[in-house]
Amino acid sequence: MIEVSDITKFYGDFPAVTGISFSVEKGEILGFLGPNGAGKSTTMKILTGFMPPTSGTASIAGFDIVEESLNARKHIGYLPETVPLYLDMTVSDYLAFMGNIRGMNGKEIAQRRSDVIEICHLEEYSSTIIGKLSKGYRQRVGISQAILHEPDVLILDEPTIGIDPIQVVETRQLIKDLGDNHTLILSSHILPEVSLICDRVIIIHEGQIVAVDEPENLGTNLSGVERVELEVKGPNREILAVLESVDGVQEIERDTVTGGAFHRYQITVDLGKDIRSDLAKVVIQNNWELLKLQSLGMTLEEIFLRLTIEEQQLNPEPEHAQ
Ligand SMILES: Nc1ncnc2c1ncn2[C@@H]1O[C@H](COP(=O)(O)OP(=O)(O)OP(=O)(O)O)[C@@H](O)[C@H]1O
Ligand SMILES: [Mg+2]
Repeated sequence: MIEVSDITKFYGDFPAVTGISFSVEKGEILGFLGPNGAGKSTTMKILTGFMPPTSGTASIAGFDIVEESLNARKHIGYLPETVPLYLDMTVSDYLAFMGNIRGMNGKEIAQRRSDVIEICHLEEYSSTIIGKLSKGYRQRVGISQAILHEPDVLILDEPTIGIDPIQVVETRQLIKDLGDNHTLILSSHILPEVSLICDRVIIIHEGQIVAVDEPENLGTNLSGVERVELEVKGPNREILAVLESVDGVQEIERDTVTGGAFHRYQITVDLGKDIRSDLAKVVIQNNWELLKLQSLGMTLEEIFLRLTIEEQQLNPEPEHAQ
């Protein structure tokens, strides 16, 4: 449905995005994850035909976004980072206005307008001036204009940014529901959000893709390590010495919040090695009390940090930068 091939974008001589390639299947929800300045919005602006890439190509539903921009755009609904809302229009008038711009006729507009108002739960606010709406509801108006012309692809740039926690939950649900009948790309720098909503995640850092996977696989497939949590009653130093000698253990961190009644360790182990029974054995052999032994996936935060830090170590910034 979406094909992106070797896209690079320079702003002047600054490379905001370099050599990005990926594809999105019909019906998939793809998350674009990256810190500020990673290049998420730049990539989205290119995909929506908002601006051309410096090099590389992209197509939506088979239409090249530069050569066949008009056809490509018919398939796309776009929620930009800053939604161009007209604050003195009512929700209803604004949607009619956007429908007009997109060449929809009066009948289509009337029908779709009531549909999108319902889908985005804006029924109570259709005659409200947009300027009077809260940020969360403005964002819904932004989403409603994005789906007005029934595009099959939705591109949402940080759809939950700046919204309070209650409205965030509702907006995420709305996005999830939209994912049932749209191919969807959303960007975010909130890691749990992406793992909640998306089928697949692309982690982008300094204009490049550093990882692509399903949220649940990122932890093990890409980090090269797994973690085990262990709670034991016994003498800390001796326990540490014994644990360190177990084959496959890379690193042990002691959690200091337990108050001393027992010890909790986070153990980083070689990928693909399940050493839980070995750990249990040494604890029992030493007559310590084994309270808990559990395999932990890495959190997206940890994966993200690990990936981006490794990237920085491979390509260190020159010292005179900034
Ligand atoms: N119009 C522009 N002119 C010059 N540089 C730009 C322009 N737009 C973006 N940049 C730079 O390009 C890089 C990527 O920006 P982009 O907006 O794509 O990042 P982002 O991942 O969306 O970040 P954020 O999370 O802050 O929205 C940044 O370093 C940014 O400063
Ligand atoms: Mg952005």
